[in-house]
Amino acid sequence: MRFATKAVRAGNEPDEKTGAVSPPIYTASTFAQDGIGKPRGYEYSRSGNPTRERLERAVATLEQGRHGLAFSSGLAAITNVGSLLKKGDQVLICNDVYGGTFRLFNRVFSNFGITFKMVDATDLDSLERAVSNRTRMVWLESPTNPLMAILDIRAISKVAKNRGLILAVDNTFASPYLQNPLKLGATIVVHSTTKYISGHSDLIGGALALSDQELYERLKFLQNAMGAVPSPFDCYLTLRGIRTLYLRMVQHSSNALAIAELLEKSDKVRNVYYPFLRSSKTYKLARRQMVLGGGMLSFTVKGGYKPAKAFLESLKLFSLAESLGGVESLAEHPARMTHSSLPEKERKKMGIGDDLVRLSVGVEDRDDLLGDVEQALKRA
Ligand SMILES: Cc1ncc(COP(=O)(O)O)c(C=O)c1O
Repeated sequence: MRFATKAVRAGNEPDEKTGAVSPPIYTASTFAQDGIGKPRGYEYSRSGNPTRERLERAVATLEQGRHGLAFSSGLAAITNVGSLLKKGDQVLICNDVYGGTFRLFNRVFSNFGITFKMVDATDLDSLERAVSNRTRMVWLESPTNPLMAILDIRAISKVAKNRGLILAVDNTFASPYLQNPLKLGATIVVHSTTKYISGHSDLIGGALALSDQELYERLKFLQNAMGAVPSPFDCYLTLRGIRTLYLRMVQHSSNALAIAELLEKSDKVRNVYYPFLRSSKTYKLARRQMVLGGGMLSFTVKGGYKPAKAFLESLKLFSLAESLGGVESLAEHPARMTHSSLPEKERKKMGIGDDLVRLSVGVEDRDDLLGDVEQALKRA
């Protein structure tokens, strides 16, 4: 089955009892049992819920994994993966990682004796050199946020395998249509389903996909033990979003490429970061591991903060807002918005300056979006 078919069908099998093609939402917190120790498959919705199971099946199918797990947020999913670790263990995290992931390892897991080291994962030698006898996990994002760096997941997975490390890849920016990290050798795929997977900026959610049975059982235990599960209604909304994931990603990607090409030609713009721009240093790698370039791009405005602010505040169609991956176009200033939780020194080191603007390009009409960007550039 190809992706568009899976997106429509996975986890959306007609209801067994009634044939309803839009399956019911099971809001029950608890389930009547036929006798002591004789549940009919479900006991309590934190440990298992039919609507959540549909979503978990869908995510596993889209990511070509054997198992899926759903959570109440992307960070809850990340917390569960981090909780596989013990005191003394170390994680190697790629530079340019989502600020919330950095904060979680830096200010929460560090309290439990789990350490981390930031690495330049574009440089395989430096990644290998960073591995110590305490390293247990490598944490990647590709494309990275907000500079859209592309990491060679297949090559990194070989390093991880050789050293017996878990490779977790946050695939939120790409979505399962554009990239399947498990097929490239990753152990666990992580999603903030808040973004492309649900696609309508109307819920917060997270998910994991993996094939390793033992790790799955451990993560399923942690999901129940830690309790950060999504509500059945949010699972339903996410499943509903998934039905159009293919269509949305095609439109996001073609709109974003057109805008990236327009920005590249502007004399107001210094650098444009978009994986499928031919001028991008990692264009070939991106083409190898991604189907399309996706809806996210960022660029630097000549002249620093003032023109970047003027650009952002002159946009009429794009809303000035954090987050990404919804049908509507959003624009933001990473240094003062999404990445403001990073210490300034860390931000500067990563290249997130005051001149950087990030766009989450939606699925509106391409010419309307191009017109909006063009008029805002004139005011920058
Ligand atoms: C790449 C990435 N991973 C994880 C998260 C966290 O997801 P959530 O906000 O659903 O907790 C985000 C949020 O912006 C993100 O951009």
